[in-house]
Amino acid sequence: MLNDEERKRAVECLAAGGLVAVPTETVYGLAADAENELAVRRIFAAKGRPSTHPLIVHLAGADQLPQWAREIPPDARLLAEALWPGPLSLVLRRTARASDAITGGQDTVALRVPDHPLTLELLRAFGGGLAAPSANRFGRVSPTTAAHVREELGDAVDLVLDGGPCRVGLESTIVDLTGGEPAVLRPGGVAVEQLEELLGRHVPVRAGGTVRVSGSLDSHYAPRAGVQLCEPSELPRALEAARAAGQTVVVLSPQRPAGGVRWLELPADPVAAAQVLYARLREVDESGATLALVSLPAPAGLGLAVRDRLRRAAAPRPG
Ligand code: TXA
Ligand code: MG
Repeated sequence: MLNDEERKRAVECLAAGGLVAVPTETVYGLAADAENELAVRRIFAAKGRPSTHPLIVHLAGADQLPQWAREIPPDARLLAEALWPGPLSLVLRRTARASDAITGGQDTVALRVPDHPLTLELLRAFGGGLAAPSANRFGRVSPTTAAHVREELGDAVDLVLDGGPCRVGLESTIVDLTGGEPAVLRPGGVAVEQLEELLGRHVPVRAGGTVRVSGSLDSHYAPRAGVQLCEPSELPRALEAARAAGQTVVVLSPQRPAGGVRWLELPADPVAAAQVLYARLREVDESGATLALVSLPAPAGLGLAVRDRLRRAAAPRPG
């Protein structure tokens, strides 16, 4: 709960075109008034993000959908009703309210109702939509605590609301509902299996398709150290090879490997792994290791999203 003074300060800051870092159940967001183009441009500047990458608009409730989306197919209504507030973003045909500054000039807009009491309270008090990407610098690891936001963005943000550590730990699942069949553009906090169960059919994952999704660029969510992935059974051999190559290794895996190597726990349970993933990637850099060797969780449930983020963290870096 925000006290009256905090709520007033945050609403006034947003109304004046300021940037407020807000907690959500997925990761912290860097929020601005979605209808203020200058404020939206400040988000891109603070993140160092290319302005053609569209933003998600956060709403207080599904009743605000028609303000932002001009077509709401039955599947969209069904998913919103079942999963909002929650870690699901719906891509729909936009109304004029969703400006080019937010959509990157596309005819669609991504919308979500976040599941965090503090931010829901702020959204209700503010009244309008809040454009909010994850509150990290472009290409870097998303923040899951208020301290991460301050480290990452410093003075570029006017106000940071501390809502504690994020419950889910990685970003929302993005579902495109503008084509004939729903498709996942980014796996995330809602498992694809759950979408399939609700919709009663197969839902394809089209990450890296033609729609611009910055989370689908190759290198993303990356710590400074190198990242190498392996299946659990390959870990001992990969560790030996990395050490032979002179790397200072830190292993991320469910159990401590034999032989006195630096180790950070990444649980085998995908929900628990999702929750700690970004904090662990930050700890990789703090450990002074040059290489993080990561044992991958199974690709079921949230394991799909964990593997997706790890694959991007391990992708070749630009420049
Ligand atoms: O959990 C989340 O989704 C977090 C929290 C803060 O809500 N937000 C987040 O925002 O991850 P961001 O900007 O880091 O990632 C949003 C993704 C981007 O990859 C963007 O390209 C995609 O959503 N996106 C936004 N609008 C889109 C659209 N109209 N069509 C396709 N993708 C879109
Ligand atoms: Mg992001």
